[in-house]
Amino acid sequence: MINAIYERRSIRKFSTTPIPEKELLDIIQSGIKAPSSKNRQPWKYIVVQGQAKEEMLKAFRQGIAREESGNALLPQSRQHIAGAKYTVEIMQQAPVSVFVVNSLGKDLFTELTPEERIYDICNIQSISASIQNMLLAATEKGIGSLWICDIYFAYEELCQWLNCDGQLIAAIALGYPEEFPKERPRRKMDEVVAWRS
Ligand SMILES: Cc1cc2nc3c(=O)[nH]c(=O)nc-3n(C[C@H](O)[C@H](O)[C@H](O)COP(=O)(O)O)c2cc1C
Repeated sequence: MINAIYERRSIRKFSTTPIPEKELLDIIQSGIKAPSSKNRQPWKYIVVQGQAKEEMLKAFRQGIAREESGNALLPQSRQHIAGAKYTVEIMQQAPVSVFVVNSLGKDLFTELTPEERIYDICNIQSISASIQNMLLAATEKGIGSLWICDIYFAYEELCQWLNCDGQLIAAIALGYPEEFPKERPRRKMDEVVAWRS
């Protein structure tokens, strides 16, 4: 497991080799095994592949075009639109995308009381643990993965296409890797750790 933590990379080049269903089920099962706040297990997973993948990509591209057209949900993030387009190309290559939804979450536009916000933060932490479990399980199986939040550039379009109740959190692209990047830089331990004793 420690090996998977050290070996995992964000993969952005995938082969067209399909992922056997058994492997996909194992990966999702690893996601379901994550800890969650009050064991609420707020996650839902929508597995997109085959013909559905093309429809999903169409919705994603429509969202990016809307962001570019001036009707932007993320007006301060225009400099990241090119990155979102690249992410769509990566998802085009990957045989499978798993969308992860917070089934207990409200949509982005709902205002929350501080208490509701804490509940939401705890649910999102639980879902993040679930996503990381899936990435590590995939790594262990030699399957590449990419955690994707560029979905927010097509938030409404993807939510509508996915027809999901709750709050869309992220997507994970999965496929056999066609690149083996070296480790991306990390901050040094003493920059990020404070010891109190
Ligand atoms: C919450 C989150 C969102 C991310 N969204 C994207 C994305 O939309 N597109 C992308 O190419 N990479 C995305 N990444 C991958 C990061 O760029 C990557 O994890 C980081 O650069 C470190 O590289 P590594 O994963 O290979 O260690 C995301 C990662 C996280 C944790």
